[in-house]
Amino acid sequence: MSRSAHPAGPRHADVLPEGHYSAPPADLNALDGKVWAQTVTRDAHGVVTVGGLPVTRLAEEFGTPAYILDETDFRARARAWRTAFGQDADVFYAGKAFLSRAVVRWLHEEGLNLDVCSGGELATALSAGMPADRIAFHGNNKSKDEIRRAMEAGVGRIVLDSFQEIVRVAHVAQELGRRQRVQIRVTVGVEAHTHEFIATAHEDQKFGIPLAGGQAAEAVRRALQLDGIELIGIHSHIGSQIFDMSGFEVAAHRVVGLLKDIRDEHGVELPEIDLGGGLGIAYTSDDDPREPHEIAKALTEIVTRECEAAKLRTPRISVEPGRAVVGPTAFTLYEVGTIKPLDGLRTYVSVDGGMSDNIRTALYDAEYSVALVSRSSDAEPMLARVVGKHCESGDIVVKDAFLPADLAPGDLIAVPATGAYCRSMASNYNHVTRPPVVAVRDGEARVIVRRETEEDLLRLDVG
Ligand code: LLP
Repeated sequence: MSRSAHPAGPRHADVLPEGHYSAPPADLNALDGKVWAQTVTRDAHGVVTVGGLPVTRLAEEFGTPAYILDETDFRARARAWRTAFGQDADVFYAGKAFLSRAVVRWLHEEGLNLDVCSGGELATALSAGMPADRIAFHGNNKSKDEIRRAMEAGVGRIVLDSFQEIVRVAHVAQELGRRQRVQIRVTVGVEAHTHEFIATAHEDQKFGIPLAGGQAAEAVRRALQLDGIELIGIHSHIGSQIFDMSGFEVAAHRVVGLLKDIRDEHGVELPEIDLGGGLGIAYTSDDDPREPHEIAKALTEIVTRECEAAKLRTPRISVEPGRAVVGPTAFTLYEVGTIKPLDGLRTYVSVDGGMSDNIRTALYDAEYSVALVSRSSDAEPMLARVVGKHCESGDIVVKDAFLPADLAPGDLIAVPATGAYCRSMASNYNHVTRPPVVAVRDGEARVIVRRETEEDLLRLDVG
């Protein structure tokens, strides 16, 4: 690995162009515990380690790019959610954030339930031994085949997302001679403070049945009439990467309002409410996420208070965190390739992956951090943009970040907080193969999702 200083490029705060960044950090070698997984640290030689293993060894053994997942941290976060909500509530991990058979086993062992939203996620969950009654099946357009498979497996609940689906699920249940436990997903009309594409409780979008105009009340009326389904509760998911609890407060208020209307009209007190996922994590040092115990306390208090006011028995609460469990537990390890300093602008640092392993920056203008991890450096900070190898100028992994000015091809850099929605949204754009997920725990590393090969890609071509 070359250690030579890189030729001149923009270096100092006084020449910084417009961007998302704040001032360069005081110490480029520091690893902020908010954004890095629990066991990540820098050893005496300056090499970053995770679970006791140096990233240089992981890169040698598993190649780059690779998602490196701290299993100890994953289990600790899963357990923290479980413990925070206690025995009177259920925590469903949202599999869309990242799912693999190993993850399903960890969740099972740590006492979490699982939210799936496709036949593929369901198959993964079942194949790894998650008991079907601990699975919730979601989605705004589940196929009849998916509904049937879920019901045949015996999933604990199906979350109904439309009027058609109420009928469809009841119908399949009758064909199978079953009674399926269901919730109805409602849109409560909250504008969550997050990116438009990941906000899901305002009315003008595809998910759920609006409370407004009495539509949700009508859905409940229909569901209560059908023999094949047992309505156990109301579901609300207001969006994702949310820090402000006020959206949940409004959602809980409105959902409890519906429970009260249902009690008044039908004489039925539904026993459950699900407040969805959506709790934010730190992608950069500027983010301040809440701990699971604070979230559990806040949500439980809101629901209890609202129910007391409505003279309702407090229903069993469930939540569906995805990002907040897995997001902070992994980082993506890349090797630096070409480096291009653009005078007066920034230095473009190309890595051996890109938008195919992390589409979030291109899709949501997401912000990430980055650090040199194969060594420490005392060089001055250089304003960098970390880009991938794809044929697309929007192929940006980290839009604005500071890296040491002596960064050189062959160095390893890592982008933290890539555990959620990176591997699960990865693509094969430009026929780039998707990276592996390597789980590290107590000095041992093992592949839990292997690297895709070119043979994998070719296997799908017919003729
Ligand atoms: N429950 C339901 C019904 C959901 O739709 C979602 C996420 C979750 C739970 C989990 O939300 P979380 O706790 O992970 O925020 N691809 C986007 C996020 C889309 C989230 C979709 N639904 C991103 O990368 O930010």
